Amino acid sequence: MTRVAKVVTSLKVLGAACLMVGSASVFAADEPAKAAPAADVAKQAIAVRKAAFVLIANNFKPIGEVLQGKAQYNQAEIVKRAQRVAFLSELLDGTFPAESNVGAPQTKTKAEAFTKKEDFDKLLKEFVANSKTLAQVAAKESTASDAFKNAAKAVAEGCKGCHDKYKEK
Ligand code: HEC
Repeated sequence: MTRVAKVVTSLKVLGAACLMVGSASVFAADEPAKAAPAADVAKQAIAVRKAAFVLIANNFKPIGEVLQGKAQYNQAEIVKRAQRVAFLSELLDGTFPAESNVGAPQTKTKAEAFTKKEDFDKLLKEFVANSKTLAQVAAKESTASDAFKNAAKAVAEGCKGCHDKYKEK
């Protein structure tokens, strides 16, 4: 095959591929958009929020240990952990849809988190904000200063405050 013939062949193949992609999307557009069944929405949301909380707890642990005097303050380590908690806290956004108010054993989220949604969302928002503040404060503090401790306590109290109200034991 000459070089030109090769190019022409590849262009033809490319054209056919484009046509196929084009028709596939036309078919997709013809399908009526179906909302995901409520059970699937619940399952997905519960899995995501639990995963986020496991990672949040894992990364907050070394910070809690410094607060309790069980570990030395290592700034680089604490900043890294606090930044992770701040990032992970944002992943909780949208993970408590009404469909996921299904109770035990699927979820430990109490029904009150859904019936008192405004208060629950406020606690969630404060948690995100306090986690960000902690990361910023730790970045400036080379020791376990009062500023660090106060910022870390605000986050820890947020965990406990929300669990006491909205999480089954
Ligand atoms: C605004 C409320 C709120 C805040 C703040 C919060 N949690 Fe939770 N947490 C929950 C709820 C609700 C559940 C139950 C999730 C479920 O089962 O659907 C939960 C579940 C958990 C779980 C269990 C996850 C699993 O595998 O079932 C851990 C661990 C956890 N949280 C740790 C923390 C830590 C650590 C913090 C603070 C750094 C924190 N949480 C902050 C509400 C909160």
